[in-house]
Amino acid sequence: MALNIAVLPGDGIGPEIIAQALRVLEVLKKEGLDMTFTEAPLGGQAYDQYGHPYPEFTQDICRKADAVLLGAVGGPQYDTLDRPLRPERGLLAIRKDLGLFANLRPAVLFPELANASTLKPEVVAGLDIMIVRELTGDVYFGQPRGMRTNEQGVREGFNTMIYSEPEVRRIAHVAFDIAMKRGKKLCSVDKANVLETTEFWKEIVIDVAKEYPEVELSHMYVDNAAMQLIRNPKQFDVMVTGNIFGDILSDEASMLTGSIGMLASASLNESKKGLYEPSHGSAPDIAGKNLANPIATILSAAMMLRYSFDNEAAATRIENAVKKVLAAGYRTGDIYEEGTKKVSCSEMGDQIVAAM
Ligand code: IPM
Ligand code: MG
Repeated sequence: MALNIAVLPGDGIGPEIIAQALRVLEVLKKEGLDMTFTEAPLGGQAYDQYGHPYPEFTQDICRKADAVLLGAVGGPQYDTLDRPLRPERGLLAIRKDLGLFANLRPAVLFPELANASTLKPEVVAGLDIMIVRELTGDVYFGQPRGMRTNEQGVREGFNTMIYSEPEVRRIAHVAFDIAMKRGKKLCSVDKANVLETTEFWKEIVIDVAKEYPEVELSHMYVDNAAMQLIRNPKQFDVMVTGNIFGDILSDEASMLTGSIGMLASASLNESKKGLYEPSHGSAPDIAGKNLANPIATILSAAMMLRYSFDNEAAATRIENAVKKVLAAGYRTGDIYEEGTKKVSCSEMGDQIVAAM
C-alpha cells in the first residue's frame, strides 16, 4: 500500500526547503518506494487562502495521511492578526489535533561541522543528544490563558502551567524507550525547586523509571541544564522535558551542532503517526532567495521513513547522502566557513540527490 504523505510547505523558506526534501524522496519513489504526496496549506499561507491557519481542507488531508511533512510557518505580515489566526496557532492546532505529544529533536554534530559550532570543537565533537519534548501540554495549552484588566484596573497577561499524570507518563515512556535503544541514560529536566507542575513531573518520571531498571535516570533544573548544555554537552544522552523548557533547550542544543538549519524533528502520536519538520522557523529575511539550508528538512524526511514507516534502510541512505555532501565540502551560508564551497538551497538539494 502506498504511503500517504501530506505535504505542508507553509511560509517563508518553507516552500524552498520542502521542494528539496521532495526531490530526495522522489529518488526513492522512482526506485519503487510507493509514496503519494498531497499538498495542503498551513500557517500564513492557509490564512491567505482560507482565512484560517489550520483550515478544514488541511485538517482532512492531514487526518487521512500516514505522515505529515512540514516546512515552516510564520511571517511578519501576520504579526498583527488576531492571535487565534496567527500562523503559529496553526502549528499548535495541528499538533493538538493529531495528538502529536512526543517531539523528538536529535542534536547530532556532523564531524565536518565541528568548526561551524560557536563552541570549541573538542567540546562538541561526537555530540549526539536526543531531546524528547512533550508537545501538546504545559503552559502552551493550559487554561485559563489570556490578557485582561484585573479588579484594580491593572492590565495583565496570564497562562497556566499544567500537566496531568497520563500526559507525563506517556512522554516518560517514550523517553525511556528511546534511552533503552541508545546509551541508556536519561536526564529529566524540571524546575521542581519552584514550580509544582514540574515537581509533579519529576515524581511521575521517578515512578515510570521503576519499569526501566537499566536506564540511569538523573534530574536537572532547567537553568542548570541550559548551562550544562554549553559547558559539557556530551554528558547528555537523552533529555526529557515539558513543552516550554523543551522549546528553549532544543534551540540551544541546535547551535551546538553548528546551525539550527541542521536540526530535524519528529512529532509522534500514540500510533506512530508523525509530523516531521525542521526545528527552525520560516526565516522571512532570507525567504525566496534560495539561500536557506534544506538539510534539516531533508533529515526530517529521513526521520519520517524511520519512525512512521519503519524503513531504516531508506532513512540511513538519506543521512549518509547528507554526510557525503558535507564531507565533499558543500555548505549553505549558515554553515559556510573558509575553504568550503558555498551553495544555494537548490544546489544543496542537487548534491544530496546526486549522493543518493
Ligand atoms: C518550535 C517553534 C514553535 C514552538 C512556535 C513556532 C510555535 O518554536 O517548534 O519550537 O514554540 O513550539
Ligand atoms: Mg522553538
